[in-house]
Amino acid sequence: MKGRVFNGMRPTGHLHLGNYLGSVVNMVTLQENYECFFCIVDWHALTTGYEDTAELQDNILNIAIDWLSAGIDPKKSVIFVQSSVKEGAELHLLLSMPTPLSWVERIPTYKEQLRQLEGRNIATYGFLGYPVLMAADILAYKAGVIPVGEDQLPHIEITREIVRRFNFLFKSEVFPEPVAKLTRFALLPGIDGRKMSKSYGNEIHMSDNPATIRTKVAQMVTDPQRIRKTDPGRPEVCVPYQFYRAFVPEQQEHVAEECRNASIGCVACKQRLADIIIDRMAPLYEKRQKLAQRPDDVMDILHDGAGRARMVAKATLADVRRVMNLRDF
Ligand code: TRP
Repeated sequence: MKGRVFNGMRPTGHLHLGNYLGSVVNMVTLQENYECFFCIVDWHALTTGYEDTAELQDNILNIAIDWLSAGIDPKKSVIFVQSSVKEGAELHLLLSMPTPLSWVERIPTYKEQLRQLEGRNIATYGFLGYPVLMAADILAYKAGVIPVGEDQLPHIEITREIVRRFNFLFKSEVFPEPVAKLTRFALLPGIDGRKMSKSYGNEIHMSDNPATIRTKVAQMVTDPQRIRKTDPGRPEVCVPYQFYRAFVPEQQEHVAEECRNASIGCVACKQRLADIIIDRMAPLYEKRQKLAQRPDDVMDILHDGAGRARMVAKATLADVRRVMNLRDF
């Protein structure tokens, strides 16, 4: 039997090229060897964004389209929205009972985020429960393999601890202990050289059209000491170079050399990079155009995915209620 993968992504905006190379490409590959559950985690988006939900549905649809256009295939994988499977909420509630407060409070990102998102009022019960909700995602589907970036490792660890505690307390083997499969995130900077992030407005989106990609690549920050074309450049401090490394790693040494010996100017170098990115994203762009015209088809895929996910989660919850001695009246 194939191992089961679960991955969740928050619908907080359009996916960018860092998400694409770091995560989505990997999800497409995983489909070949695993039974994959790919979940758009709207409840998680609410843990920090509950005050303004106006764009939530657009964001959900956008991620679904980003995924589908990249080759995530509803025939191979279960693609669904977290809140369509209410069993997830029940499991979150039940798992919250035996989870010590100290476990959730000590998650490194917790206090850090409280500080970082200060203006946002996230000193809430819901935000504290973020990792337990994530554990519920993974465990409702009894997933064994979780592809994540390094920042998510504490969440996988707490999930494993919750599993051990639950299985011990209720003398059961209901849950398997999931393992993290570290995805090497391509560390793509934003076009201004800072971290690629919505809050800086420095992203290139998976959905950007070719003209937009060209404009953004032209705006990328290069070596500030390279003023004339004949000045030797330093690829280490150049944003376009980071993109070359991520998109065409086999050419990185050649490109670095051209920069250092000033045999290519920044303008030409960026034009060539724009071509590479546009070429690579062209099939996705085409597919997106078609999908965007048929939002009902995308909704159908999410509806179908929710049905398949629900069947699995229902079976898990039946096990959980049984070992916890709960019953329906
Ligand atoms: N916390 C994850 C993130 O921010 C998203 C997520 C929610 C997730 N539930 C999950 C990831 C379950 C993996 C498995 O990236």
